[in-house]
Amino acid sequence: MNGYQRIEKAIALEAVDRTPIWFMRQAGRYLPEYRELKSRYDFRTMVQTPDLATEVTLQPIKRFHQIDAAILFSDILVIPEALGMDYDFREGGGIEMDWSLNTESDFNKLSVDAVEEKLDYVFRAIAQIRGELGTEKALLGFGGSPWTLATYMVEGGSSKDFSKVKSLGFERPDLLAKLLFLLSEALIRYFRRMQESGVQAIQIFDSWGSACPGVYYEDWSLKWIRRIIDEVGQRVPFILFSKGMGAYRDEWISTGAKVISLDSSLRLSDFTQLPNRKFAVQGNLDPALLSLDPEVVRKATRELLQAVGPTRGHIFNLGHGIMPTARLESVEAMLETVEDCGA
Ligand code: CP3
Repeated sequence: MNGYQRIEKAIALEAVDRTPIWFMRQAGRYLPEYRELKSRYDFRTMVQTPDLATEVTLQPIKRFHQIDAAILFSDILVIPEALGMDYDFREGGGIEMDWSLNTESDFNKLSVDAVEEKLDYVFRAIAQIRGELGTEKALLGFGGSPWTLATYMVEGGSSKDFSKVKSLGFERPDLLAKLLFLLSEALIRYFRRMQESGVQAIQIFDSWGSACPGVYYEDWSLKWIRRIIDEVGQRVPFILFSKGMGAYRDEWISTGAKVISLDSSLRLSDFTQLPNRKFAVQGNLDPALLSLDPEVVRKATRELLQAVGPTRGHIFNLGHGIMPTARLESVEAMLETVEDCGA
């Protein structure tokens, strides 16, 4: 069984020869070959140049044969950029947007027109990567949830308290809804084209789901995710990751996502052991482990797999992005342990 089939079967809750594996490395500068390329090109150039995006996408696959799916090298912030708001990185970490949404007229500066043309570099990269992967490995696309993207656009970048975007939601729900609608439109078009270009599944990162007050989680975040999955979910399976919102398990399931991705705060078995489960479960080793000794990582990985038990529909993944301090020998230890444990 190859990686492509393993991922496909796990999503369909069919039997596999071992638990399939992939993980993202966002904010992860742990690979020397990535750092080398990064010393020659800036991030956005790498994202926007299909040859470079292809090279970076394939790096983890080439180094670690156990990984079953490549994840497209890109960023969730390509969507705000295509709507008219550029992004950059702050010295010392975090995101800085070029401008932010403050007044009502700011909202009129954003446009969903020609969003597919502006993001054409992504679709070209996907086609190129798909060609190189052949039918051996899966390729995953992704995007931010409308809410998570809105936080960057209203806050003007990474935020500690999300006060601006919350104020907008409380004081001007009409304007927040207008923004979320626009983002959903852009994402629906984007994801359709991603699927046509060759991705096997799409992960929605609702990384700042937990910034929503619980009573507004449906209105500010899930409603829009639901809409996207309604529109595109017949063509391609969606993986939903909504960090910190595990209390809303049933609402997650009701979005129609085929895979629920768990952050490390949750217990995998609370999801894998649900009776009549119709979705696959992804997760959720704590990424902090990968900065520790390989022996510690082996033990934690074995414990995780034992807790899941011999179940169908589990994809091994980290609970969040890999950290820049991850040690290569510890990543190897994790992958070997999953490989040795079977399914
Ligand atoms: O695994 C992969 O390489 C796939 C590509 C990927 C990136 N970003 C590339 C990247 C993915 C899946 C993302 C998702 C992403 N980007 C999310 C959602 C996931 C999550 O963390 O919950 C978010 C919130 C972003 C926005 C973003 N981009 C942040 C917060 C950062 C870190 C900024 C910092 O320095 O603190 C980035 C940068 C980024 N995106 C890097 C990579 C490989 C690191 C860039 C570098 O320094 O080389």
